[in-house]
Order: sequence, then structure tokens, then C-alpha cells
Amino acid sequence: MANVVVVGAQWGDEGKGKIVDWLSERADVIARFQGGHNAGHTLVIDGKVYKLSLLPSGIVRGGKLSVIGNGVVLDPWHLVKEIALLREMGVEITPETLMIAENTPLILPIHGELDRARENQNSVAKIGTTGRGIGPAYEDKVGRRAIRVADLADAATLAARVDRALVHHDALRRGLGMEPVDRDALLAELAKVAPTVLEYAAPVWRVLDQKRRAGKRILFEGAQGALLDIDFGTYPFVTSSNVIAGQAATGTGIGPGAIDFVLGIVKAYTTRVGEGPFPAELHDADGQRLGERGHEFGTVTGRKRRCGWFDAVLVRQTCATSGMNGIALTKLDVLDGFETLKICVGYDLDGEQLDHLPFAADAQARCTPIYEEMPGWSESTEGARSWADLPANAIKYVRRVEELIQCQVALLSTSPEREDTILVTDPFED
Ligand code: IMP
Repeated sequence: MANVVVVGAQWGDEGKGKIVDWLSERADVIARFQGGHNAGHTLVIDGKVYKLSLLPSGIVRGGKLSVIGNGVVLDPWHLVKEIALLREMGVEITPETLMIAENTPLILPIHGELDRARENQNSVAKIGTTGRGIGPAYEDKVGRRAIRVADLADAATLAARVDRALVHHDALRRGLGMEPVDRDALLAELAKVAPTVLEYAAPVWRVLDQKRRAGKRILFEGAQGALLDIDFGTYPFVTSSNVIAGQAATGTGIGPGAIDFVLGIVKAYTTRVGEGPFPAELHDADGQRLGERGHEFGTVTGRKRRCGWFDAVLVRQTCATSGMNGIALTKLDVLDGFETLKICVGYDLDGEQLDHLPFAADAQARCTPIYEEMPGWSESTEGARSWADLPANAIKYVRRVEELIQCQVALLSTSPEREDTILVTDPFED
């Protein structure tokens, strides 16, 4: 039996939803290990559209255990809303099908307020966040002033934790010209939401250990993408969690040895939302066309995504930092009809050719992409279910991508439909 980690290999929005859904159907446990409700997964099952941003994708399938690990930051009010919405759609959610780690830090309304205040403050500070309080909640976690799920069980502990957090937040808010936090109102809101959250609270590390020993299949569902990783992403234009595969272990409490296969989700071109460097970004008709054909608008914020050619340098980097065992290549059909395709194979930095993106911001800004051109294909690849269905030039493109990123294609997705997939390697059986 294998345990599989799925991570986005670019800046998020690689089309994880369909792949995660396909894998979660065959898993016993589906666990989230980082991020929060900044993620946006759309699942289409039997014609019904489910939009998830906090709960693991497995929740919509009966008979599975869905787990929120300690590496996630959890907005309890959002949790209540998402559960209610799914229940209205007929999804059964019980303490047997959903467990939340007791040591998960909470996102409070003050985190969202701070996130948005900073974003609106001035252009120097702007990251282009989702405004959902993710960064400030993680800051409180490492600042040792977070309120965690287990704290909701005892009124005295909760009040003490809130007081500890407010010493910091009120000082910060004063500096930003914001009103101090209404402590009693916050405590009252927390007391109201506590019973729902506590219903699902569990020692997740222990449950996962038991499942693993019983030979159950665990799917670790990553959110965002490895280029948004707090350490290895395009800092500071990143999210505030570790996104790379190693986080599956620390974000749930399972040892790294329990992970058997890391699957990277890779889009056949590149997109990003929010601010930050993007060497292969296109500002021309080709970029426009990628955005239109790929329906590149954010699921959470509705923002238009920036588009560019496939950047093999960055994906080779994320395949290395996540230890990818294979990739799922998505949205190949968006490239149908381009006469010529380009792949970024290196960067030119002041006349020197680099095979990676340097961390220094000034060097990043001076990096210009070095492109390799490949002939496109006029035929449609949409809905292809075997290699034989693909035009020769499309196969050449995929093979060149594999070569450049030094990682093999395990799955090739050719439309949002689940059946439109070419399976090369099954991550659970590998
Ligand atoms: P935050 O996670 O809201 O703090 O946003 C930080 C950066 O990550 C911004 O550039 C966001 O656009 C980006 N981001 C966060 N979540 C996602 C996602 O699920 N897909 C793509 N980008 C994301």
C-alpha cells in the first residue's frame, strides 16, 4: 500500500482538483497539510459542482476519512459555512468522516482585517494576497500567540490565549490606525463557534499512525504551488506556509518515511495570480490566448491570472525541492492550434546563462528567459485517452518537458472530464 502526496509544481492553479479527486476515490484517508481557505478546488462529480476551499476533496465522497492537519490554518466560521453548504448538497459530514487536528491554529477575523489593511496600505507592502488572513495567522503560530483548536475547549485557557494575542495585535493595530480589538466580542464569537469545531477535533497524528499501520491508503492533498512556498518560492511574493512535499509530514504528524510517492501537478504552460516575479510572462496576444483558452480566472478571488510559456527551469527546481516521483501534466489542450510553442530552458543574467532562478530579488528582476522553440500542432488534443490519440508534435512537446524537468509524466490530463486522462504510472501502485 502506498501513501501519496500531491503538490502543485508551479504557482498554484495547476488543475489539482481533478487529479486529487481521481486519487481520493482510491484512497482511504485524505489529509490537508498546509494553507487554509485561500485554496480553491472545484470538483465535478456526477454533474454536481462542488467548490471547496478548506475541506479536503475526499469529503464529497462517502466512506472516506477527511483530515485537516496541524499545518493548516483554520477559519472556524468559514468551516461552519463550508460544512453547511456541502450538507445542503447532500454531503454527509460527521466526526467519523472529518477530523481536525487539535493543534491546528485558528484564523480569527483580526487576521483577515490585518491582511487586508496591509495590502491596502501602500504599494510597497502589497503581495496580492487572497485577503483571508493566512499570513497573519501563520505569524501568530510562529510567534507563539496563536489560538489553537484545543484551546476552544476551556473558557479560561481561551481567554488567556486571546489576551496573549491581543497584546501584540492591539499594538500593531494602533500603528496602522485601526481600532483596538473588542476582546469580549471576540471571545463571545469564539464561544459560539467552538462546539462545531470541537465536534471534529482529534489527535490526527495518532489516527494517521493507526491508519498507516492498518495498511490504509493516505492521500496528502497540497494546496497552492511550490513556487509559493515560504522558503523555496519567489519570496516575499509567496504564501505563508511550506507548500513543498516535506510539509505533508510536519503538517500532519506522520514521519517522512511513510510517504511513498510524490506527484507534482504541472500545467503545460505557466500562470500566476498576485504580484511577484514571473520571468516567462507574456504581455502579448499569445498570453491573452492562453488566458482565454485556459479560463484563467482565480477560483477564490476571481482575479485574472497572468499567463506565460512553460518554464522548465522553475519546474525542474520544484521537482527537486519536493522530490517528485512523477508529474501529472494538465491542460495540454490549451496549447492546441499554436503554430509555434516556446519553452523557457534557462535565464540570461547579464550575459551569463543560469539553470535556476536565483534568490536575490535584483538578480531575479534582471533574469530574461532563454526560449527553445518547438512546432505546435493544429489537431485537437482535448479528450485524448491514449498516446495514439495525440498528434506527434504534442508527444514531442511532452517528451521534451520530461527531459528538461528531469521527471516523468505519470498522468496526462486532456480535459476537465475524469475519463480524459492518459495513465502512465499509478502513484498508489508504483
Ligand atoms: P495568501 O496565501 O492569501 O497570503 O496569498 C499569498 C500569495 O499566494 C498571493 O500571490 C496569492 O495570489 C497566492 N495564492 C494563495 N492561494 C492560492 C491558490 O490557491 N492558488 C494560486 N495562488 C494562490
